Amino acid sequence: MQPVEIKPDIFWVGAVDWNKRDFHGYSINKGTTYNAYLLRDDKTVLFDTVLQEFKNDLIHQLRQLMDPEKIDYLVINHVELDHSGCLPELVELIKPEKIICSPMGHKALLEHFHRPDWPYEVVKTGDSIDVGKRTVRFIETRMLHWPDSMFSYIPEEKLLISSDAFGQHWATSQRFDDQVDQGELMAHAAKYYANILLLFSPNVEKLLARVQADGLEIEMIAPDHGLIWRRNPAAILEAYQHWCRQEAARKAIIIYDTMWHSTEKMARAVARGLQEEGVNAVTLLHARRNHRSDIMTEVLDAKAVILGSATLNNNIMPALADVLTYMKGLRPKNKVGAAFGSYGWSGEAVKHLNGRLEEMGIAMAGEGVRIKNVPNHESLAECVDLGRAVARAMG
Ligand code: FEO
Repeated sequence: MQPVEIKPDIFWVGAVDWNKRDFHGYSINKGTTYNAYLLRDDKTVLFDTVLQEFKNDLIHQLRQLMDPEKIDYLVINHVELDHSGCLPELVELIKPEKIICSPMGHKALLEHFHRPDWPYEVVKTGDSIDVGKRTVRFIETRMLHWPDSMFSYIPEEKLLISSDAFGQHWATSQRFDDQVDQGELMAHAAKYYANILLLFSPNVEKLLARVQADGLEIEMIAPDHGLIWRRNPAAILEAYQHWCRQEAARKAIIIYDTMWHSTEKMARAVARGLQEEGVNAVTLLHARRNHRSDIMTEVLDAKAVILGSATLNNNIMPALADVLTYMKGLRPKNKVGAAFGSYGWSGEAVKHLNGRLEEMGIAMAGEGVRIKNVPNHESLAECVDLGRAVARAMG
Protein backbone atom coordinates (compact mmCIF):
# COMPACT_ATOMS: atom_id res chain seq x y z
CA MET A 1 0.00 0.00 0.00
CA GLN A 2 0.97 3.63 -0.44
CA PRO A 3 0.94 6.27 2.30
CA VAL A 4 -2.23 8.36 2.04
CA GLU A 5 -2.24 12.02 3.00
CA ILE A 6 -5.29 12.50 5.21
CA LYS A 7 -4.55 16.15 6.16
CA PRO A 8 -1.66 18.39 5.02
CA ASP A 9 1.51 16.55 6.03
CA ILE A 10 -0.41 13.92 8.02
CA PHE A 11 -0.33 10.47 6.44
CA TRP A 12 -1.95 7.08 6.94
CA VAL A 13 1.01 4.68 7.05
CA GLY A 14 -0.72 1.52 8.27
CA ALA A 15 -1.04 -2.05 7.03
CA VAL A 16 -3.92 -4.02 5.52
CA ASP A 17 -4.41 -7.57 6.81
CA TRP A 18 -6.57 -8.96 4.00
CA ASN A 19 -6.79 -12.50 5.28
CA LYS A 20 -7.34 -12.09 9.01
CA ARG A 21 -10.40 -14.12 9.87
CA ASP A 22 -10.21 -14.56 13.63
CA PHE A 23 -9.47 -11.75 16.06
CA HIS A 24 -9.17 -13.54 19.41
CA GLY A 25 -12.55 -15.15 18.92
CA TYR A 26 -14.25 -12.35 16.95
CA SER A 27 -14.89 -13.57 13.43
CA ILE A 28 -13.88 -10.96 10.84
CA ASN A 29 -15.01 -12.09 7.46
CA LYS A 30 -13.31 -9.30 5.49
CA GLY A 31 -9.96 -8.87 7.23
CA THR A 32 -8.83 -5.73 9.02
CA THR A 33 -6.34 -2.88 8.94
CA TYR A 34 -3.85 -1.64 11.52
CA ASN A 35 -3.77 2.11 11.06
CA ALA A 36 -0.77 4.20 12.00
CA TYR A 37 -0.36 7.90 11.22
CA LEU A 38 2.68 10.06 10.56
CA LEU A 39 2.67 13.80 11.26
CA ARG A 40 5.45 15.86 9.71
CA ASP A 41 6.01 19.25 11.33
CA ASP A 42 9.03 20.76 13.09
CA LYS A 43 8.86 17.52 15.01
CA THR A 44 7.87 14.30 13.28
CA VAL A 45 5.46 12.08 15.16
CA LEU A 46 4.34 8.51 14.52
CA PHE A 47 0.99 7.64 16.10
CA ASP A 48 0.72 3.92 16.90
CA THR A 49 2.33 1.06 15.02
CA VAL A 50 1.08 -2.28 13.64
CA LEU A 51 0.94 -6.00 14.38
CA GLN A 52 4.46 -7.48 14.53
CA GLU A 53 4.13 -9.47 11.30
CA PHE A 54 3.33 -6.23 9.40
CA LYS A 55 6.41 -4.40 10.65
CA ASN A 56 7.98 -4.31 7.18
CA ASP A 57 4.80 -2.87 5.66
CA LEU A 58 4.96 0.00 8.15
CA ILE A 59 8.67 0.61 7.56
CA HIS A 60 8.12 0.52 3.80
CA GLN A 61 5.36 3.13 4.15
CA LEU A 62 7.55 5.34 6.31
CA ARG A 63 10.52 5.08 3.94
CA GLN A 64 8.36 6.40 1.10
CA LEU A 65 7.97 9.61 3.12
CA MET A 66 11.19 9.99 5.07
CA ASP A 67 14.07 8.28 6.76
CA PRO A 68 12.39 6.54 9.75
CA GLU A 69 15.39 7.39 11.91
CA LYS A 70 14.35 11.04 11.65
CA ILE A 71 11.05 10.41 13.48
CA ASP A 72 11.21 12.33 16.77
CA TYR A 73 8.28 11.05 18.81
CA LEU A 74 6.30 7.84 19.01
CA VAL A 75 2.80 8.24 20.44
CA ILE A 76 1.37 5.00 21.82
CA ASN A 77 -2.37 5.52 22.10
CA HIS A 78 -2.94 1.84 22.94
CA VAL A 79 -0.64 -0.99 23.96
CA GLU A 80 -2.63 -3.99 22.66
CA LEU A 81 -0.30 -5.97 20.42
CA ASP A 82 -2.14 -5.31 17.17
CA HIS A 83 -0.83 -1.73 17.55
CA SER A 84 2.39 -2.24 19.44
CA GLY A 85 3.66 -5.68 18.43
CA CYS A 86 6.55 -4.30 16.37
CA LEU A 87 7.53 -1.67 18.92
CA PRO A 88 10.88 -3.21 19.97
CA GLU A 89 12.10 -3.25 16.36
CA LEU A 90 10.67 0.20 15.68
CA VAL A 91 12.30 1.73 18.75
CA GLU A 92 15.58 0.14 17.72
CA LEU A 93 15.28 1.61 14.22
CA ILE A 94 13.89 5.05 15.06
CA LYS A 95 15.64 5.73 18.38
CA PRO A 96 12.86 8.19 19.26
CA GLU A 97 13.50 11.18 21.45
CA LYS A 98 10.22 10.43 23.28
CA ILE A 99 7.73 7.59 23.58
CA ILE A 100 4.53 9.34 24.62
CA CYS A 101 1.88 7.35 26.46
CA SER A 102 -0.77 7.61 29.18
CA PRO A 103 0.08 6.70 32.80
CA MET A 104 -1.62 3.33 32.34
CA GLY A 105 0.08 3.01 28.96
CA HIS A 106 3.45 3.42 30.67
CA LYS A 107 2.65 0.55 33.03
CA ALA A 108 1.35 -1.60 30.19
CA LEU A 109 4.41 -0.93 28.02
CA LEU A 110 6.70 -1.97 30.85
CA GLU A 111 4.66 -5.12 31.42
CA HIS A 112 4.62 -6.02 27.74
CA PHE A 113 8.17 -5.16 26.65
CA HIS A 114 10.18 -4.98 29.89
CA ARG A 115 12.20 -2.00 28.71
CA PRO A 116 12.51 0.54 31.52
CA ASP A 117 15.31 2.22 29.55
CA TRP A 118 13.01 3.54 26.77
CA PRO A 119 12.51 7.36 26.75
CA TYR A 120 8.93 7.49 28.04
CA GLU A 121 7.01 10.72 28.43
CA VAL A 122 3.80 10.17 30.34
CA VAL A 123 0.87 12.45 29.47
CA LYS A 124 -2.52 12.89 31.09
CA THR A 125 -5.82 14.23 29.84
CA GLY A 126 -5.40 17.88 28.89
CA ASP A 127 -1.64 17.67 28.36
CA SER A 128 -0.39 18.69 24.95
CA ILE A 129 2.86 18.88 23.03
CA ASP A 130 3.94 21.54 20.59
CA VAL A 131 5.26 20.01 17.38
CA GLY A 132 5.73 23.21 15.36
CA LYS A 133 2.78 24.71 13.55
CA ARG A 134 0.53 22.29 15.38
CA THR A 135 -0.12 20.84 18.79
CA VAL A 136 -1.17 17.38 19.87
CA ARG A 137 -3.55 17.22 22.81
CA PHE A 138 -4.10 13.98 24.71
CA ILE A 139 -7.31 12.59 26.17
CA GLU A 140 -7.16 9.45 28.31
CA THR A 141 -9.99 7.07 27.44
CA ARG A 142 -9.61 4.45 30.16
CA MET A 143 -11.44 1.22 29.42
CA LEU A 144 -12.11 2.22 25.84
CA HIS A 145 -11.23 -0.40 25.68
CA TRP A 146 -8.11 -1.01 27.81
CA PRO A 147 -6.94 0.96 30.85
CA ASP A 148 -4.13 2.52 28.79
CA SER A 149 -6.27 3.72 25.87
CA MET A 150 -5.87 7.33 24.81
CA PHE A 151 -6.95 9.70 22.02
CA SER A 152 -4.64 12.17 20.30
CA TYR A 153 -6.33 15.35 19.09
CA ILE A 154 -4.79 17.90 16.73
CA PRO A 155 -6.90 21.05 17.13
CA GLU A 156 -5.38 22.95 14.18
CA GLU A 157 -6.64 20.16 11.89
CA LYS A 158 -9.76 19.26 13.92
CA LEU A 159 -8.42 15.72 13.68
CA LEU A 160 -9.10 13.06 16.30
CA ILE A 161 -6.83 10.01 16.21
CA SER A 162 -9.11 7.73 18.15
CA SER A 163 -7.25 4.46 18.74
CA ASP A 164 -9.72 1.52 18.71
CA ALA A 165 -12.84 3.69 19.13
CA PHE A 166 -14.94 4.30 15.99
CA GLY A 167 -13.08 1.55 14.12
CA GLN A 168 -14.21 -1.35 11.98
CA HIS A 169 -12.55 -4.64 11.12
CA TRP A 170 -12.66 -4.33 7.34
CA ALA A 171 -9.72 -4.66 4.95
CA THR A 172 -10.10 -2.29 2.01
CA SER A 173 -7.91 -0.50 -0.50
CA GLN A 174 -9.92 2.66 0.20
CA ARG A 175 -9.04 4.73 3.24
CA PHE A 176 -12.05 7.03 3.71
CA ASP A 177 -15.71 6.62 4.62
CA ASP A 178 -16.91 8.39 1.46
CA GLN A 179 -15.18 5.82 -0.78
CA VAL A 180 -17.15 2.77 0.36
CA ASP A 181 -20.70 1.50 0.62
CA GLN A 182 -22.32 3.25 3.59
CA GLY A 183 -24.51 0.31 4.60
CA GLU A 184 -21.56 -2.05 4.73
CA LEU A 185 -19.45 0.51 6.58
CA MET A 186 -22.04 0.96 9.32
CA ALA A 187 -22.61 -2.81 9.53
CA HIS A 188 -18.88 -3.35 10.20
CA ALA A 189 -18.89 -0.48 12.73
CA ALA A 190 -21.91 -1.99 14.52
CA LYS A 191 -20.29 -5.42 14.65
CA TYR A 192 -17.13 -3.87 16.07
CA TYR A 193 -19.11 -2.00 18.74
CA ALA A 194 -21.17 -5.07 19.67
CA ASN A 195 -18.11 -7.29 20.07
CA ILE A 196 -15.51 -4.95 21.53
CA LEU A 197 -17.11 -1.95 23.16
CA LEU A 198 -20.60 -2.97 24.28
CA LEU A 199 -19.57 -3.76 27.85
CA PHE A 200 -17.88 -0.37 28.10
CA SER A 201 -21.02 1.50 27.01
CA PRO A 202 -21.22 3.58 30.24
CA ASN A 203 -17.65 4.79 29.56
CA VAL A 204 -18.57 5.58 25.93
CA GLU A 205 -21.56 7.63 27.11
CA LYS A 206 -19.40 9.63 29.55
CA LEU A 207 -16.69 10.20 26.95
CA LEU A 208 -19.15 11.45 24.33
CA ALA A 209 -20.67 13.82 26.91
CA ARG A 210 -17.19 15.11 27.77
CA VAL A 211 -16.28 15.64 24.12
CA GLN A 212 -19.48 17.65 23.72
CA ALA A 213 -18.94 19.64 26.93
CA ASP A 214 -15.36 20.47 25.94
CA GLY A 215 -16.61 21.70 22.57
CA LEU A 216 -14.05 19.57 20.76
CA GLU A 217 -14.36 20.40 17.06
CA ILE A 218 -14.03 17.23 15.04
CA GLU A 219 -13.71 17.37 11.29
CA MET A 220 -12.09 13.97 10.86
CA ILE A 221 -11.85 10.81 12.98
CA ALA A 222 -8.93 8.53 12.25
CA PRO A 223 -9.32 5.22 14.10
CA ASP A 224 -6.74 2.45 14.38
CA HIS A 225 -8.85 -0.03 12.37
CA GLY A 226 -10.76 0.38 9.13
CA LEU A 227 -11.94 3.47 7.34
CA ILE A 228 -11.23 7.09 8.31
CA TRP A 229 -14.33 9.21 8.92
CA ARG A 230 -13.74 12.17 6.57
CA ARG A 231 -17.08 13.03 5.00
CA ASN A 232 -19.34 12.28 7.91
CA PRO A 233 -17.72 11.84 11.32
CA ALA A 234 -21.07 12.84 12.83
CA ALA A 235 -22.55 9.56 11.53
CA ILE A 236 -20.32 7.41 13.71
CA LEU A 237 -20.62 9.77 16.70
CA GLU A 238 -24.43 9.54 16.44
CA ALA A 239 -24.29 5.77 16.07
CA TYR A 240 -22.15 5.52 19.22
CA GLN A 241 -24.64 7.77 21.08
CA HIS A 242 -27.35 5.30 20.12
CA TRP A 243 -25.40 2.10 20.79
CA CYS A 244 -23.99 3.20 24.15
CA ARG A 245 -27.48 3.79 25.49
CA GLN A 246 -28.37 0.27 24.35
CA GLU A 247 -31.60 1.55 22.87
CA ALA A 248 -33.29 -1.48 21.39
CA ALA A 249 -35.45 -1.77 18.30
CA ARG A 250 -38.70 -3.77 18.30
CA LYS A 251 -36.71 -6.76 17.18
CA ALA A 252 -36.44 -10.28 18.59
CA ILE A 253 -33.72 -12.83 18.10
CA ILE A 254 -34.14 -16.51 18.84
CA ILE A 255 -30.85 -18.28 19.46
CA TYR A 256 -31.14 -22.04 19.60
CA ASP A 257 -29.48 -25.40 19.16
CA THR A 258 -31.34 -28.56 18.40
CA MET A 259 -30.54 -32.29 18.28
CA TRP A 260 -33.29 -33.79 16.10
CA HIS A 261 -35.16 -30.62 15.08
CA SER A 262 -37.73 -30.63 17.91
CA THR A 263 -36.27 -27.49 19.51
CA GLU A 264 -36.02 -26.00 16.04
CA LYS A 265 -39.75 -26.56 15.50
CA MET A 266 -40.34 -24.85 18.83
CA ALA A 267 -38.16 -21.89 17.72
CA ARG A 268 -40.33 -21.43 14.63
CA ALA A 269 -43.50 -21.53 16.71
CA VAL A 270 -42.11 -18.91 19.10
CA ALA A 271 -41.30 -16.74 16.06
CA ARG A 272 -44.90 -17.13 14.87
CA GLY A 273 -46.21 -15.92 18.23
CA LEU A 274 -43.96 -12.85 18.09
CA GLN A 275 -45.13 -12.04 14.57
CA GLU A 276 -48.79 -12.53 15.52
CA GLU A 277 -48.28 -9.82 18.16
CA GLY A 278 -46.82 -7.43 15.60
CA VAL A 279 -43.08 -8.01 16.00
CA ASN A 280 -41.97 -7.95 12.38
CA ALA A 281 -38.23 -8.15 12.95
CA VAL A 282 -37.64 -11.70 14.13
CA THR A 283 -34.39 -13.56 13.45
CA LEU A 284 -33.66 -17.25 14.11
CA LEU A 285 -30.01 -18.04 14.73
CA HIS A 286 -28.79 -21.62 15.00
CA ALA A 287 -25.92 -21.50 17.50
CA ARG A 288 -23.78 -23.99 15.55
CA ARG A 289 -24.29 -22.26 12.20
CA ASN A 290 -23.75 -18.66 13.23
CA HIS A 291 -20.56 -17.34 14.76
CA ARG A 292 -20.83 -15.93 18.29
CA SER A 293 -19.66 -12.52 17.07
CA ASP A 294 -22.36 -12.38 14.37
CA ILE A 295 -24.94 -13.37 16.97
CA MET A 296 -23.73 -10.54 19.24
CA THR A 297 -24.13 -8.09 16.38
CA GLU A 298 -27.80 -9.11 16.19
CA VAL A 299 -28.13 -8.78 19.98
CA LEU A 300 -26.88 -5.17 19.85
CA ASP A 301 -30.22 -3.61 18.89
CA ALA A 302 -32.65 -6.44 19.71
CA LYS A 303 -35.19 -5.89 22.47
CA ALA A 304 -35.85 -9.60 22.97
CA VAL A 305 -33.29 -12.38 23.34
CA ILE A 306 -34.99 -15.78 23.38
CA LEU A 307 -33.01 -18.95 23.94
CA GLY A 308 -33.80 -22.53 22.96
CA SER A 309 -31.85 -25.69 23.65
CA ALA A 310 -32.40 -29.39 23.64
CA THR A 311 -31.28 -31.04 26.88
CA LEU A 312 -27.94 -32.79 26.38
CA ASN A 313 -26.44 -34.71 29.30
CA ASN A 314 -28.60 -32.79 31.79
CA ASN A 315 -27.37 -29.51 30.39
CA ILE A 316 -27.64 -27.15 27.44
CA MET A 317 -26.06 -27.71 24.05
CA PRO A 318 -22.36 -26.70 24.10
CA ALA A 319 -22.54 -24.20 21.22
CA LEU A 320 -25.19 -22.30 23.12
CA ALA A 321 -23.01 -22.30 26.24
CA ASP A 322 -20.24 -20.74 24.12
CA VAL A 323 -22.55 -17.98 22.86
CA LEU A 324 -23.93 -17.26 26.34
CA THR A 325 -20.50 -17.09 28.00
CA TYR A 326 -19.44 -14.59 25.35
CA MET A 327 -22.69 -12.62 25.58
CA LYS A 328 -22.57 -12.34 29.37
CA GLY A 329 -19.10 -10.80 29.19
CA LEU A 330 -20.34 -8.14 26.78
CA ARG A 331 -23.14 -7.11 29.22
CA PRO A 332 -26.16 -6.43 27.04
CA LYS A 333 -28.77 -4.25 28.78
CA ASN A 334 -32.46 -3.37 28.44
CA LYS A 335 -33.56 -6.74 27.07
CA VAL A 336 -36.44 -9.10 27.73
CA GLY A 337 -36.12 -12.84 27.26
CA ALA A 338 -37.47 -16.33 27.63
CA ALA A 339 -36.36 -19.92 27.12
CA PHE A 340 -37.66 -23.13 25.57
CA GLY A 341 -36.42 -26.58 24.66
CA SER A 342 -37.28 -30.19 24.00
CA TYR A 343 -36.00 -33.11 26.05
CA GLY A 344 -36.04 -36.90 26.22
CA TRP A 345 -36.20 -37.70 29.93
CA SER A 346 -34.72 -35.20 32.45
CA GLY A 347 -35.13 -31.86 30.63
CA GLU A 348 -32.90 -29.43 32.55
CA ALA A 349 -32.04 -27.14 29.58
CA VAL A 350 -34.80 -24.58 30.13
CA LYS A 351 -33.94 -24.23 33.81
CA HIS A 352 -30.29 -23.61 32.86
CA LEU A 353 -31.23 -21.12 30.15
CA ASN A 354 -33.52 -19.21 32.52
CA GLY A 355 -30.62 -19.01 34.94
CA ARG A 356 -28.30 -17.67 32.25
CA LEU A 357 -30.84 -15.02 31.22
CA GLU A 358 -31.37 -13.94 34.84
CA GLU A 359 -27.60 -13.74 35.43
CA MET A 360 -27.42 -11.25 32.56
CA GLY A 361 -30.21 -9.13 34.07
CA ILE A 362 -32.59 -9.91 31.22
CA ALA A 363 -36.24 -9.41 32.22
CA MET A 364 -38.06 -12.75 32.00
CA ALA A 365 -41.32 -13.09 30.07
CA GLY A 366 -42.55 -16.26 31.74
CA GLU A 367 -41.05 -19.51 32.95
CA GLY A 368 -40.42 -20.93 29.50
CA VAL A 369 -41.70 -23.98 27.66
CA ARG A 370 -40.43 -27.58 27.77
CA ILE A 371 -41.72 -30.25 25.42
CA LYS A 372 -40.94 -33.96 25.75
CA ASN A 373 -39.47 -35.53 22.62
CA VAL A 374 -41.26 -34.37 19.46
CA PRO A 375 -43.80 -31.51 19.60
CA ASN A 376 -47.23 -31.79 17.99
CA HIS A 377 -49.68 -29.13 16.90
CA GLU A 378 -51.13 -28.76 20.42
CA SER A 379 -47.84 -28.53 22.25
CA LEU A 380 -46.44 -26.06 19.71
CA ALA A 381 -49.30 -23.74 20.67
CA GLU A 382 -47.51 -23.26 24.00
CA CYS A 383 -44.50 -21.97 22.07
CA VAL A 384 -46.70 -19.60 20.05
CA ASP A 385 -48.07 -18.32 23.38
CA LEU A 386 -44.51 -17.86 24.65
CA GLY A 387 -43.70 -15.75 21.59
CA ARG A 388 -46.83 -13.69 22.22
CA ALA A 389 -45.87 -13.19 25.88
CA VAL A 390 -42.38 -11.99 24.91
CA ALA A 391 -43.87 -9.59 22.34
CA ARG A 392 -46.13 -8.07 25.01
CA ALA A 393 -43.17 -7.75 27.41
CA MET A 394 -41.23 -5.88 24.70
CA GLY A 395 -43.73 -3.04 25.06
FE1 FEO B 1 -7.03 -2.80 18.05
FE2 FEO B 1 -7.44 -2.99 21.38
O1 FEO B 1 -6.51 -3.19 19.79
